[in-house]
Amino acid sequence: MASNGGNYPYHGSDHDLAPKESPSYAQGGTGAARPRRRINKLIMIGVPVLLVVILAAVLGGVLGSRAAKKNSDASSSSSGGASGGSGSNGGSAGAAGRFAVATDSEFMVPVYPSTTNTALFTTPTVVAANSWPTDSFKPATPDVLTTRPDRPRLFAPQYKWDSLPAMIQKDPYMKGWNDTIFGNATAYYSLPPIVYFMDGDSGILDNAREFKQRIKAWAYVYRLTKDTRWSERAWVEIQHVAGDSFGPTADKWNAAHFLDAAEFSAAYGIAYDWFYDVFTDDQKTQMRATLILYGLQPGLSVFTGTPTFGWWATDVNGNWNCVCNGGLTVASLAILGDDTTGTATSLLGRTVDNAKANCAISVSDDGTWSETANYWYFGTTGHAEMSSALLTATGSHYGLLDVNPNFQLTGLFHMYAYGPTSLFNYGDHGPNKFSTTANCMFLYADQYNRPNYALFQREQFDAAEPWSMFWYNPGTSGAFWDGADLDFFFDNVNDQWASMRSSWTDGNALYVAIKAGQNRNHQTHNDLDAGDFVLDALGTRWAGELGSGDYRSTNYFSSGDQDADRWKYYRKMTEGQNTILINQTNQNILAAPTVRHDSSGTKQGSSTVLEVAKDSTAFWVSDMTSAYFSATSVKRGIRLLNGRKQVLLQDEIDATGAIQWRMHTNATVTIGEGGTTASLALDGQTMQVSILNAPTGAQFSTSEAKRFDTDPAPPVADQENPGVTVLIISLPAGTVTLQVLFNPQWSGMSGGDFVTPPSVTLDNWSLRSHD
Ligand SMILES: *[C@@H]1O[C@H](CO)[C@@H](O)[C@H](O)[C@H]1NC(C)=O
Ligand SMILES: *[C@@H]1O[C@H](CO)[C@@H](O)[C@H](O)[C@H]1NC(C)=O
Ligand SMILES: *[C@@H]1O[C@H](CO)[C@@H](O)[C@H](O)[C@H]1NC(C)=O
Ligand SMILES: *[C@@H]1O[C@H](CO)[C@@H](O)[C@H](O)[C@H]1NC(C)=O
Ligand SMILES: *[C@@H]1O[C@H](CO)[C@@H](O)[C@H](O)[C@H]1NC(C)=O
Repeated sequence: MASNGGNYPYHGSDHDLAPKESPSYAQGGTGAARPRRRINKLIMIGVPVLLVVILAAVLGGVLGSRAAKKNSDASSSSSGGASGGSGSNGGSAGAAGRFAVATDSEFMVPVYPSTTNTALFTTPTVVAANSWPTDSFKPATPDVLTTRPDRPRLFAPQYKWDSLPAMIQKDPYMKGWNDTIFGNATAYYSLPPIVYFMDGDSGILDNAREFKQRIKAWAYVYRLTKDTRWSERAWVEIQHVAGDSFGPTADKWNAAHFLDAAEFSAAYGIAYDWFYDVFTDDQKTQMRATLILYGLQPGLSVFTGTPTFGWWATDVNGNWNCVCNGGLTVASLAILGDDTTGTATSLLGRTVDNAKANCAISVSDDGTWSETANYWYFGTTGHAEMSSALLTATGSHYGLLDVNPNFQLTGLFHMYAYGPTSLFNYGDHGPNKFSTTANCMFLYADQYNRPNYALFQREQFDAAEPWSMFWYNPGTSGAFWDGADLDFFFDNVNDQWASMRSSWTDGNALYVAIKAGQNRNHQTHNDLDAGDFVLDALGTRWAGELGSGDYRSTNYFSSGDQDADRWKYYRKMTEGQNTILINQTNQNILAAPTVRHDSSGTKQGSSTVLEVAKDSTAFWVSDMTSAYFSATSVKRGIRLLNGRKQVLLQDEIDATGAIQWRMHTNATVTIGEGGTTASLALDGQTMQVSILNAPTGAQFSTSEAKRFDTDPAPPVADQENPGVTVLIISLPAGTVTLQVLFNPQWSGMSGGDFVTPPSVTLDNWSLRSHD
C-alpha cells in the first residue's frame, strides 16, 4: 500500500506501524493479528528546567501505568533546545521553554505537563519585541512580474537569514527546529539518491515530495553554513531527478499526474533560489532547461491547451489545484528574469488567478477543507507556499490569502479535528506527506492575526521544518488553550461536523468528533458516512476510522455515483463506518442532513489542568433521513454527560429495512450476560458500553471488519483490517430508539460516580435536558 501510509504514523492505517514485540498487546480478542497496538514510548523534546520534576511525574505515570517496555526510547535530549534546558539558569523569557515536553511516538501528538503553574505558559517564550525586522522591499505597486532585486527571493529573503541566528538563540522552539533540520539534512546527506518508483495512479508523487523534503533541508543548512558540501550533495540529487537513471526520457516528472511535476517544479524553484549564489551559471542554465521541459511547459499547456492532465485547473477546488498552481508559481518566481523563453512570465499571468478561483474556495464558510482532514495538509501547504513566495518575491499575495474571506478559519478546522490521540481522520488519508506539513499554521497565524494557530502548531512534531523558521513569529506569546472553546460546531451543509472535548492538554481527555454533511462534493475522497464518529478517552481511540483503501484498487476514484465501484470497498461503504446501516445498503449519495447543537461554552484557562464543572456539556443532533433509502426517519444525537466524563449516543430510527448500529474498534470486546453491555479493553484501559432502555432484541454482537458475503464484490479485493472488531446492534425493520452509553473507566471513578441519563427524545435534547 505504498500510496497511502507510513511517513506520518497517523495516516498509515494500512501500515504495520507499531512493532509487534510488546507482549502486553499480543493478545487479541478476535484472534487476528494485532499489528497496530500503540507502544507508548515517548520521545522527549527539550526538557524545560522548571518542568523536570513535573515531567518525571507525568512520564512515571504514563509509562508505569501502561507498562511500556521501551522507556529507553524516552531519551532525554538537549535537542529540543529549551533555553531553560540547555543550561541557562532561566532568564524570565526563556525559562518556560517549550510547552510540550514529549511526543507520543505512535501518533506524534504533543504531551503537555500537568501543572497549575500558569506562569509557565503566560510568560512570552521570547522577548516579544524580538520578532522579525521589517522587509525593506515594499514596492509601491506590486506586480507579479517584478521581483525583489536580491536573492533569495522565495520564502526567506536575505534580511530574514541575517536575523535568524540571533532568533534561534533566543527562541527555544526555533532552536529545537534548527537542530532537527540539521540532523535531518545530515541523515539525507548519506542516503543514496531517490529511487524512481512509479506507483500506479499515484505516480511518482512520493519521489517528488521526498526530493523536495531533501532539497529544503540541504538548502536551509547551506544558507546558514555556506558550506558547499550541502550544495554539492543537492546538485547530485538535482541532476539525478533529471537524468537517465530516473524514469523515462519523456515526461520524466510525470506531468500526466500533474501533482508530481508540480512538486518537482517547486523543489527545483527552491533549490534554484536558495543555492543561487553557489550554483554556476551553467548549473542554473541546466536547471532552467529541465524545469521548463518537465514542469513549466506542460504546466503552461494546461492553460493554453486542453491536455487531459489539466483537469485540475477548471472548476475544481481541493488540494490538486493548490499544489499544482503552487508548484508552478514557486518555480516561475524562482527563474523569473533569468528565463528567456517567456514561460515563467506566461505562467505567472495565469496561476495566481486560477488559484484564487479554485484553490482558495477549498475552504467552506466554516473553515472546513472540502476533501478530508488529511487532505487539508496538502492543499494548505500548496496555498501557503504560493502565498508566501508571492509575498516575498513580489510584495503582494494578489488576493490569494483573502479572496475567500473564510479561508482564515481553516486553522480552526485543523485544531478541532485533532483529538488527544490523533486526527478525526474520516475519508481518504492521502499519500505520504514527506515535505507536506501543517506549518501553514504559522503563515496564517501572522497573515490573519490568529496567534493561536502558531501557538498550536509550534508544539507539533512536524513544526521542525525549514518553512517554520521563517513563517513562525517568535514574538507570539501565550498558550493556544488559554481561552479556547472546548467545543466547536462546523455547520456548512457540505461538512456539518462537531468537535467536543474535556481538555486541550490532557492526553487522556475525552474527545468526540462526529459528522453528517453531504456524501458528495469532497473530490471523491469521502466515505458514505453521515453519522460517523470517533471517540477518544484514557489516551486511546475507542471508536476509530479504517482509513483509505488502496488507491490503486480498480475504480477506487473513478466515480462517486450511487452505483460506483468505490462504494463497494469496505472502507468506503456505509458498512465500514461508525454509523447506522439500514437494509445492508449504502447511504444515499444525495444525502442532505440537517444539524442542531449547543454547548455550555466551556473554555479552558491558562492552566493545563482543567476541572470541568458538572454541568459543562455539549450535544449535536442530526436528522440524516435523507441519507437512507429504506427509512422514513433516521436521527442521531451525541452528547457529553457528567462533566464530560461519559458519552450518550442516541439513534431514533423508523426503517422499513433491517437496522444495524455499527462501530469499529481496536479494542478487545467482551459482551456481558444478557447482551446489553460490552466491555472494551485497549491499551490497558477499559470502556464500558451499554444499551439503555434496550428495545426488545437489542443486543451487542461483534464481527470482523469486512463486507457481508451478500454484498456485491468490489473489482479487486478489499484491504484487511486486522485487529479491528465491529461492535454491532442488529434489529429488524421498525421504529426504534437506541441509547448507547459510553463509560470510560477513569481512575478514581467507581460505579456510583457514573450517571444514568434520563431518556429524552432527540427533538427535546437541550443543554439541561439530561441534568
Ligand atoms: C543550528 O543547528 C546546528 C546543529 O545543531 C548548530 O550547529 C547551529 O549552531 C544551529 N544554528 C544556530 C544559529 O544556532
Ligand atoms: C528528522 O529528525 C527528527 C529528529 O531526529 C526525526 O524524528 C525525524 O524522523 C526526522 N525526519 C525525517 C523525515 O527523517
Ligand atoms: C486502530 O489503530 C490504528 C493504529 O493506531 C489506527 O490507525 C486505526 O484508526 C484504529 N482503528 C480503529 C477502528 O480504531
Ligand atoms: C433492501 O434492499 C434490497 C436490495 O437492494 C431491495 O430489493 C429491497 O427492496 C430493500 N428493502 C427495503 C425494505 O427497502
Ligand atoms: C418534549 O418535551 C415536551 C415538554 O416536556 C413534551 O410535552 C413532549 O412530549 C416531548 N416530546 C417528545 C417527542 O418526547
